[in-house]
Amino acid sequence: MMKKRISWKQCAAATTLVFAVACGTQKQSTSKADKALAQSFDKGFADAGAQYKILMKDLPADKFPKTYFPTTAKHEYSGSGWWCSGFYPGTLLYTFEQTKDEALYKEAMRILEPLKKEQFNKSTHDLGFMMFCSFGNANRLQPKPEYKEILINSAKSLCTRFDPKVGCIKSWDSKKPEFLVIIDNMMNLELLFWATEATGDSSYYKIAVTHANTTIKNHFRPDYSSYHVINYNPETGAVQQKRTAQGAADESAWARGQAWGLYGFTVMYRATKDKQYLDQANHIARYILSHPNLPADKVPYWDFNAPGLPNALRDASAAAIMASALLELQGYVEPAQSKEYFGVAEAMLRSLSSPAYKAAPGANGGFLIEHCVGHLPAKSEVDVPLTYADYYYVEAMKRYKDLAK
Ligand code: GLY
Repeated sequence: MMKKRISWKQCAAATTLVFAVACGTQKQSTSKADKALAQSFDKGFADAGAQYKILMKDLPADKFPKTYFPTTAKHEYSGSGWWCSGFYPGTLLYTFEQTKDEALYKEAMRILEPLKKEQFNKSTHDLGFMMFCSFGNANRLQPKPEYKEILINSAKSLCTRFDPKVGCIKSWDSKKPEFLVIIDNMMNLELLFWATEATGDSSYYKIAVTHANTTIKNHFRPDYSSYHVINYNPETGAVQQKRTAQGAADESAWARGQAWGLYGFTVMYRATKDKQYLDQANHIARYILSHPNLPADKVPYWDFNAPGLPNALRDASAAAIMASALLELQGYVEPAQSKEYFGVAEAMLRSLSSPAYKAAPGANGGFLIEHCVGHLPAKSEVDVPLTYADYYYVEAMKRYKDLAK
């Protein structure tokens, strides 16, 4: 990648904010937070620590938790190359930060070792999830040159998947003449903003902005719901197809996809202070919050247009991601809107923290949150715990606690 040095000013007020807020340290009015709820999250983090000690107990040495099947009481694990490998260390680190339980930190340090090699993985776009949720948090808590190098290498690997003709980072490889980009990819851009801040090299920043701009152009419908997959012509960059992979239908609104978009464009605004990204995040929020199919407890169905509503499964992971995103977004908007976003995030957190979604102590194989949907059309990970639900749930609890200070 060509190195172009940029000044801090050129990097938009952006990067100074990237990490102040990234993990939930917004300087925002605290008046909206319910102190009792915030305090209850101390117990929430203690519960998280206790659960993750169960999860870590039977974990094979170089494996990462993936999910757990309550009906057969069996865990499923993955290798370090699975897109979710960063969430387990990330959840341990957030929980250590709140509980100061050294056993959690020790386990996080142990599992970072087999994850390291993914810094050179150029076959996936998921390096933001894998490396920033893990090493990014490790570096935030205790900055080390080794972490910095791993994160920069990860950002470089991610950028090898960027194609200027398309204006996007490629999500999925394909043997056909297609260049596939999924809305989830917005979540990998935070790593690139970090890399520009860490190195002064604006190339990462520019790739992130270009990817986001192309996504605004092609990924959204007029109502600001998003397609899951855009298939671009790799020669011309033209859109060849708009479709789903994990949603109910090509024209449906897959709930987690809406969550990734909301979170992704909120980060874009944090990192650039460009109002078009704030507008985009607000439009996505409006779509979600005003949707007639958003249930009263604010935990979305797995797809806003799932067949068989209201008898469709919920996806608690989507609620966890949305809650965390809304707690950040509420800090960027006018008071009335802020109050609304805060209220919905709070409702989501209350639901997730209730027995309807939060596992009883010792249950759920050691995961925190139940009732998530990974990939329903493939009949994979249906109504189970998932690492990313836990990760964004603890992040949202931390953000809420920070806002109550
Ligand atoms: N493809 C990532 C997800 O399931 O959200």
